[in-house]
Amino acid sequence: MHLEIVKDYETLSKRAAYILASQIILKPASVLGLATGSTPVGTYRELVKIYNEGLISFSRVITINLDEYYGLDKDDEQSYHYFMREHLFNHVDIKDENINIPDGKAVDVEAECRRYENIIEAVGGIDLQLLGIGQNGHIGFNEPGEHFEALTHLVDLTENTIKANARFFSSPEEVPTQAISMGIKSIMGAKKILLLASGEKKAGAVYKMLKGKITPQVPASVLQMHPDVVVLVDEGAASLL
Ligand code: PGA
Repeated sequence: MHLEIVKDYETLSKRAAYILASQIILKPASVLGLATGSTPVGTYRELVKIYNEGLISFSRVITINLDEYYGLDKDDEQSYHYFMREHLFNHVDIKDENINIPDGKAVDVEAECRRYENIIEAVGGIDLQLLGIGQNGHIGFNEPGEHFEALTHLVDLTENTIKANARFFSSPEEVPTQAISMGIKSIMGAKKILLLASGEKKAGAVYKMLKGKITPQVPASVLQMHPDVVVLVDEGAASLL
């Protein structure tokens, strides 16, 4: 894994946006694996700036998002569909039919998970996967557990994740308790991975991901086995290294 430590969140966001933009320049029909949460907000803001400067186009880009809360409608303001429109899709020339996010309202969840895996396969796999990391070491919503869950699946969110994400809701009771998430194999199949972490709250997870043993108790540790990962962190997230 290639570790890059930058000063602060602003620098991290610019650097991450440059990496995504250069992927699009090198391959205009790139398949981008995208993430939500507070960490990539600055990255998307910087990417929109680069788009507005006329340096990149999303007209041939395909996106595959990591996850969606189970039970939330696309138009719910807390949904990841909504997040992606707010922070990226509404501001660039991406085609609606090229946007993929799990359907949080799917009635047949197993069929939805299969549909999602089929999409990843049909587009030829993910060229560059953007990831955040949870304080508990999760990637996507692959929570710490007894084994690595391979494919897209329904997840019971841990108390820790529900608490961490409660800041986006008016009360912790409103946080959905389940999500549909790409699995570890779906993520590890990406040709390149860019993982972002910012702030001291993430320092423990970053340390375990990079220096700890590979274990499903720290899902991100599996990235040690991937041949092309850039871990881009600010000084806070690197403070235990
Ligand atoms: P955050 O979430 O960017 O909101 O900290 C990251 C994650 O939980 O994967």
